[in-house]
Amino acid sequence: MSMASTELLPVERVVLITGAARRIGARTAEIFHQHGYRVLIHCHQSLADASVLADQLNALRSNSAFVLQADLNHADAVRALAETVLSQHARLDVLVNNASSFYATPLASVSEQQWLDLMGSNAHAPLFLCQALAPRLRASGGCIVNLTDMNINRGMAGFSAYTMAKAALQAMTRSLARELAPDIRVNAVSPGAILWPDHASDPVAHATQQAAILAGIPMARLGTPDDIAQTVFFLAHHAHYVTGQTWRVDGGRGLG
Ligand SMILES: NC(=O)c1ccc[n+]([C@@H]2O[C@H](COP(=O)([O-])OP(=O)(O)OC[C@H]3O[C@@H](n4cnc5c(N)ncnc54)[C@H](OP(=O)(O)O)[C@@H]3O)[C@@H](O)[C@H]2O)c1
Repeated sequence: MSMASTELLPVERVVLITGAARRIGARTAEIFHQHGYRVLIHCHQSLADASVLADQLNALRSNSAFVLQADLNHADAVRALAETVLSQHARLDVLVNNASSFYATPLASVSEQQWLDLMGSNAHAPLFLCQALAPRLRASGGCIVNLTDMNINRGMAGFSAYTMAKAALQAMTRSLARELAPDIRVNAVSPGAILWPDHASDPVAHATQQAAILAGIPMARLGTPDDIAQTVFFLAHHAHYVTGQTWRVDGGRGLG
């Protein structure tokens, strides 16, 4: 785990975003930063990207972005991540559980290891981050936003383990919203098709699949990381009377 500074800095609002080095998480970090938050950019393998992002944000406002590295599949690393946040930042206003592993697990070949990996980042780590960070969030009247997936409602052939993990995260959203009220709001954003995965094992099949997905989106386009990040920010910063909700941001794809 690395940080740019070890001082306790009791200043602006603070947001921890997991998996924030790239893609949707990185855009979410930028949006919170634009609104004056100090951003804690968690990453695992994308340390170089996280460091570039933190440098860019710190160039705009010094000591406003910090990088924290942890493999969320390891309980010890999740605990250490939370302890670093608590020991190095005097307040925490928002936790965004964004990190996620995502890949196909056809029923015939899904393994215990894949199950543990998909549950680790998508469900296990978010629960225990919430547990460790709830006292600090409560002190600031803070909130939690979880990134789920609209496919948990419609099903996704070949992805049962991933969709089960995201369904657990959505269930956690509702249960913790009740348990942590009135001090901490807990909501979720459920994206539709926003960014394709970085690596396709079969590019031709992937292109066919992409065309089929686009044909099923009433708004006739993919969403953007900004569409998701702005919704996360709205729920965290503006929606003071909203808790236990999952907001689908999917261009209407889930309408049926
Ligand atoms: N992209 C979409 O179209 C889409 C659709 C539906 C739902 N979503 C959800 O929206 C969120 C953001 O989507 P995205 O596509 O931007 O996510 P992503 O790029 O697939 O993953 C975000 C980050 O999760 C981190 N991560 C994965 N496993 C980890 C582990 N074991 N420990 C620590 N970090 C881990 C990775 O960090 P490192 O790179 O640092 O290792 C990765 O960069 C995710 O929760 C995703 O499930 C996205």
